[in-house]
Amino acid sequence: MSYDGACAIVTGAGSGIGRACARRLAADGLAIAAVDANEEAAKATVDELTKDGHRAAAFGVDVTDEDAVAAMVPQAAELGAPRVLVNAAGIIVRKKLLESTLDEWRRVLDVNLTGYFVMLKNVIPAMAAAGGGSIVQIASIAGHIGYGFTSYTAAKGGVLAMTKQLAGELAADNIRINSVSPGVVHTGINRDTLSTQVIHDATVSATPLGRIGQPEDIASVVAFLASENAGYVTGADLVADGGMISQVNWGDAGERLHSYHSQEQR
Ligand SMILES: NC(=O)c1ccc[n+]([C@@H]2O[C@H](COP(=O)([O-])OP(=O)(O)OC[C@H]3O[C@@H](n4cnc5c(N)ncnc54)[C@H](O)[C@@H]3O)[C@@H](O)[C@H]2O)c1
Repeated sequence: MSYDGACAIVTGAGSGIGRACARRLAADGLAIAAVDANEEAAKATVDELTKDGHRAAAFGVDVTDEDAVAAMVPQAAELGAPRVLVNAAGIIVRKKLLESTLDEWRRVLDVNLTGYFVMLKNVIPAMAAAGGGSIVQIASIAGHIGYGFTSYTAAKGGVLAMTKQLAGELAADNIRINSVSPGVVHTGINRDTLSTQVIHDATVSATPLGRIGQPEDIASVVAFLASENAGYVTGADLVADGGMISQVNWGDAGERLHSYHSQEQR
């Protein structure tokens, strides 16, 4: 499938991972519909893209507002057939279960899971009518392991499960759907936590590759899954976390464990 004359609808395109995805997919030849509840931020992304000669339009749309999403899709399709959808708009509430209010729980599930549903329900018919395409959902390592924040973890687990479910449902329409699970990435969502030295340092030491991710680290994986290079991949999740959840982090005890083991063998 060629990207000629096609467009990518990217949510959360005003910041962080969504913005990097918009930039990367534009470079790959797609026109970009930049969707974000923060209209000014979406416009800033579009300004940057158009200055670089790309075709793009900004949509100040809250992904939980079905009427607004339904009105946005045909306007986005004026940029080109919607061949790619990236669901990235997200929020976090950093609370344990007993600290969370019902409203906070509902808001996190609403944006991070129901918002993806609303986008899918409204974009898939247009994508199918255009002959198919590729959907990439930004999940999280928080969908794979306990991460500290119950509502966020539950929502991201839902994204992983929904993605697998939809692979079968959408295949007949020539639509692939996959997810990417980022580890910790420098974006707006965690600017506050990562500016705290102890959290920053703990994050780096829990990451085998020894650095915090950049939005472009995730955008390149999204671009791969969106493209025909991943033409036989659907229902998959690609973890891009510098190795964070590939192993138990033993910290300083790791070396002790190894030396203890070799002493036992002596
Ligand atoms: N940064 C990380 O470490 C990390 C790790 C794993 C997963 N993620 C996921 O990546 C995605 C992108 O987040 P980010 O890290 O780039 O954060 P970010 O805060 O930089 O960007 C999120 C964007 O989503 C927009 N948004 C929020 N609610 C919205 C709504 N209801 N409708 C439309 N737009 C809305 C915000 O305005 C913002 O521009 C999220 O789904 C997040 O959960 C991030």
